[in-house]
Amino acid sequence: MGKVLVLYDSRTGYTAKMAVHVAEGARTVAHTEVRVKSVDEAGQEDIVWADGLAVGSPTNLGVMSWKMKRFWDDLSDGIWGKVDGKIACAFSSSGGWGGGSELACMALLTVLMNFGFLVFGVTDYVGKQFTLHYGAVTAGEPRDPKEIAACRRLGQRLAQWVAGYIDGRRDLLPGPIDTRGM
Ligand SMILES: Cc1cc2nc3c(=O)[nH]c(=O)nc-3n(C[C@H](O)[C@H](O)[C@H](O)COP(=O)(O)O)c2cc1C
Repeated sequence: MGKVLVLYDSRTGYTAKMAVHVAEGARTVAHTEVRVKSVDEAGQEDIVWADGLAVGSPTNLGVMSWKMKRFWDDLSDGIWGKVDGKIACAFSSSGGWGGGSELACMALLTVLMNFGFLVFGVTDYVGKQFTLHYGAVTAGEPRDPKEIAACRRLGQRLAQWVAGYIDGRRDLLPGPIDTRGM
């Protein structure tokens, strides 16, 4: 059973909605247990529990929210150096396209790398000129079908990597990438 944690911060609810879609995507992969928790609810035990993490934050001044940063700052005394090798990815909601959501994803990935996690991007296109190379991003709420598809694809890919590389279910690794819509 692959264990996936979708961890998020959200001030006005948009990143929280993304988290729900990421979790839906992860649940499409057989034998995957998925938990969704905000930074207010989650603790060290949740990170230790998970094989794979999808971490989402609103874009704040081009990076992650202070609450998400504090969450990881606070964990560094406890589990830094003890959780290497988990698989992780990022997602972010920003106020507008071009507002820095990919930078926020990169900031999240930087923190995750610092903890020793194996981070990934996704080369798939989920709609015409719409992809998630550095993580799933939306402007505001995930409303458009392709925005929702990006969130779901991120969660699905995370669960596939967990299934294939951590849980030993190589048959669940993704096949060739779908380039339709590029
Ligand atoms: C302190 C603060 C800083 C923000 N900085 C940015 C920013 O740099 N770029 C941007 O596009 N939006 C920025 N926003 C807007 C949020 O990213 C945006 O409203 C997002 O959709 C909120 O997600 P949430 O509903 O999960 O809180 C900022 C909002 C706040 C409160």
